[in-house]
Parts: sequence; structure tokens; C-alpha cells
Amino acid sequence: MALQKKLVLGFLTVSCLLCIYILCVSLEIRVPWRMVDLAHFTQGASGVSQDSEERLGGDGDRWTQAPPASTFDPQLFSGAAPHEQKSATQAPTLKAQPPAPAGERPAKNNNTLPPSRDVSESSSESDAMDNGRTATEGLNLRPRQPTRAPGTTQPPYIGDTYASEDIPPQTDCPDSVRKRVPSTDFGGRFLKSIPVLQWAKHATPEQYQRLSQYPGTHGWGGVDYETLVATLSVLNSSANWQMFDDWSHRRNKSQCIRCAVVGNGGILKDSKKGTEIDSHDYVFRTNGAVIKGFEQDVGSRTTHYTFSTNTMRNSMRSYADLGYRGPPVSEETRYVFLPDHDRDYLLMKAAATHTPVERGPERTKSPPDYFGENVSAEKLKMYHPDFIRYLRNRFLRSHTMTTKYKNIYRPSTGAAMLLAALHTCDQVSAYGFMTPDYSSYSDHYYDKSYRQVGFFANHDLRMEMRLWQQLHRAGLVRLYMRQ
Ligand SMILES: *[C@@H]1O[C@H](CO)[C@@H](O)[C@H](O)[C@H]1NC(C)=O
Ligand SMILES: *[C@@H]1O[C@H](CO)[C@@H](O)[C@H](O)[C@H]1NC(C)=O
Ligand SMILES: *[C@@H]1O[C@H](CO)[C@@H](O)[C@H](O)[C@H]1NC(C)=O
Repeated sequence: MALQKKLVLGFLTVSCLLCIYILCVSLEIRVPWRMVDLAHFTQGASGVSQDSEERLGGDGDRWTQAPPASTFDPQLFSGAAPHEQKSATQAPTLKAQPPAPAGERPAKNNNTLPPSRDVSESSSESDAMDNGRTATEGLNLRPRQPTRAPGTTQPPYIGDTYASEDIPPQTDCPDSVRKRVPSTDFGGRFLKSIPVLQWAKHATPEQYQRLSQYPGTHGWGGVDYETLVATLSVLNSSANWQMFDDWSHRRNKSQCIRCAVVGNGGILKDSKKGTEIDSHDYVFRTNGAVIKGFEQDVGSRTTHYTFSTNTMRNSMRSYADLGYRGPPVSEETRYVFLPDHDRDYLLMKAAATHTPVERGPERTKSPPDYFGENVSAEKLKMYHPDFIRYLRNRFLRSHTMTTKYKNIYRPSTGAAMLLAALHTCDQVSAYGFMTPDYSSYSDHYYDKSYRQVGFFANHDLRMEMRLWQQLHRAGLVRLYMRQ
């Protein structure tokens, strides 16, 4: 009898423990995530009210606070040479480019920092300078989808295979980036024949099938075929696939195409770099580039204005008080879209055809409101999704891509602009981009009082900052560091 009692008691105890264990396990999974999401929401919302063109983005305009600082060092990429075609034909030809060899996959180090809720905490310099030191393991990019092509070593959403085009160089500059790149650490991942811009020729069913796998700015996933064809068909002149369409009839041109790429960083305030910036052949700007009143520091010309429809409209909202009225308008200004949604394709088509935007958030907007009366298809360009995906995969493969934010992560608009210049100009000077001493400067050169740089999950600004340092050290970009 006593034995029976003991057995029953034992059984009940074990059952109780089991129940408690199961309860604990399920709670442990749920509770922290709920807290995290809530924190992100409130943080993000306050961030947006203060700022900013870049805070909204990715798919569906979500905003979130920054995940742990990326610890992957892009230098670890080097070593694999892409196969490239040598022949130069007059019109660009399209072919498939092989994926990068497996050895080129990035690596991360073990030094992952905990998520930080406080921006001031996360922008400490030691954190910012935390370069990856050793290549210990491949970037852990496990596929979230059950299906996976056999034999591939990367999840399908990476897509490290790109179209290839032979666009002849526009100069025979003896000292161009493309001639210097092979002898640098960047030689292995730099594709000279990646299409930087997309245009009529790319709108084929085969390309659509290939690129609609990738969402956001990395593909055509969010764009229906009809809209895509209708938009790209109007981009059917050499001005749409050449970054410097007016080069052949430019006066005072140098032997090499010299580009100034101007970010909006506070480092430019009181820099007196305006004349130097304007003396380049081409001047690139992006998003809330306020010029009026800042000419001495940032110059006055804009030949290439880079934006996505979303970032441009956010800039118009956020920086109206600071003097930003919209994209710069001048005879020499070209507009380079970073397409993120179908609204970019719709606005592009409307701008090229001088018709109101058909649908979406810009519906009934008249493109001359943004780009001036003289806008025409020849003044419009649009980044190729292969190019942006290539930048993400090979230059800015952030640790964020291993987190739940992987679908909203992309290179910042400024990063896409600087890397596009690197792929098209002969010489690149960069101004107003983030440097390791960024906390000494306000977020933007036009801020009325000091404002800290903010970090959000859709971009990895610290990783971008490290990339600019590496490109500067490699002699590929001359980065203004205020010394
Ligand atoms: C683009 O122009 C070429 C040559 O002028 C023409 O053959 C082609 O049909 C055009 N493509 C589109 C989509 O309009
Ligand atoms: C070309 O250079 C000359 C002298 O260097 C200068 O006077 C002239 O304004 C320049 N023209 C243009 C279009 O920049
Ligand atoms: C539009 O182009 C015409 C002719 O080239 C020029 O005279 C006019 O100033 C331009 N308008 C604007 C707003 O740039």
C-alpha cells in the first residue's frame, strides 16, 4: 500500500515537472520576442518623427531599430576572380554571369554585440571600428524556405548570379578605377560587366522570370510584368544605359571622368569644399541634398541625383523646414532611380512620358513638380536590380541578413550612389560620407543644431563606413575625412 502511494506520488511529481517544463519552454520563446517587437515599434516611431529619408524602406515601409552592429569585414571577400568577357561591342549585350565561387562567401567573427536600444550607446566609436578580425566561419545564411535548389551553398534569396553586359568604357583614362581594381583587395568581387542601369532591353519574359524571385530593390518581385514592360520600354536610348550620356559633347572635359559623390553628412559643415566639389566633371547627390545657403561647403552643381520615390518624398516631408524643396533641377541634372517598389516604376514612366502617375501613393502627381518642366526620358536612369543585389551580396553583406530583418535590409541610397560611381567613373572623390569620428559631427550638414546619427535595421551604416575606409586605403575612392 505504501509502495503504491509512493508510486502514484512519484508519477504525479514527474507529470507536474513535465507540465512546468513545457510551459517554461513555450513562454521562453514567446515573451522576449513580444517585448522586442514592442521596443522596436516605439523606438522606430520616434525615430521617424524626427527624421529621415532612409528610415523607411525595404518592403512595406516598416521601420525598426538597428540590430547588433555588423561584425563582418568585407575585406574577407577577396580572392575569387569573376569570369569576365573581354570583347567590347557598340551596344551592350546581355548574358549570364556565373555565380561567385564558393570560397568567396563572406565570413563573420565571433564578436557579435548585443542588440542595443539606445542609439547613443550603439554609436560608440569602438563599436563602430569593430572590424572583423578572423574568418572563422561562413556567414550563417540558412534558408528559411523549405525548398532549396540542389547543389547550391547559399539560400535562394541571395542570388549571386547576375546579368553581364559589355558596355564599352567612355574614356581611355590610363588611371581609371576599372584598371586599378584588379590589383586591390576588391579585385575578386568587382564585376566590370555588371549592368549598373536597367533599360528597355532588359524587359524580357526570361529576365522577368529570373528577377521576380527577388523582392524590393534586389529584383522585380513587387512589380507586375505589364508595369515593368511599360516603364522600361520608355527607357530605350543610349542615355538610359550610359551613366554619362552627355560626355561626348561636354566642354572642358578632362581625359578621365572625375566624379564628386556628395553625401549629406555633417562632416561637410564649414568644410569650404564647394569649389573643389563643383570642379569635378560630374557631381552626384542624394535624398535631402539641401544646396541653397550651403554652396561654399557642398557646391552648387548636381549632375546625378539618386533617390527612391519613397526616400525623396520622405526627404521633402522631413527636411522642408531645413530648406529641402525637392530634387535639384538644372540643365545638366540626371535623375537616377533606386527602384524599391512598383511606385518607382510608375513615377519613372510618368516622368518619361509627361503623364500623371497612374496609381499608388503618387497617383495624380505630376512629374514636373519633382523634376522640372524639361524632364525627358533621356534625363532618367534606373539602377538595375542585379546591381543593387550584387552590392548587397559582395560589398555590404551585413550580419543583418542573418536576422529577421533580412527582408528589409538593403544598401543605403548613398551607398548605392557611391558604389555606382565606383563602377562608372574613372576617378571618385567622396564627400559627406560617414567616417569613424562621425559622432563629432551632426547627422547632416544642414541640421540647425547637433543631431546624432541614427542607426536602423534597414541599412548597416557602420559596415558602409568601414567599406569607405577600405576603398580609400585601396586608392579606389578619395574619401574626405576633414584632415
Ligand atoms: C528600342 O529601340 C530599338 C531600336 O531603335 C527598337 O528596335 C526596339 O523595338 C525598341 N524597344 C522598345 C521596347 O521600344
Ligand atoms: C571652360 O574653361 C574656361 C577656361 O578654363 C572657362 O572660362 C569656361 O567657363 C569653361 N567652360 C565651361 C562650360 O565650364
Ligand atoms: C528648359 O529648356 C529650355 C531650352 O533648353 C531652357 O531655355 C529653359 O531654361 C529650361 N527650363 C528649365 C526650368 O530648366
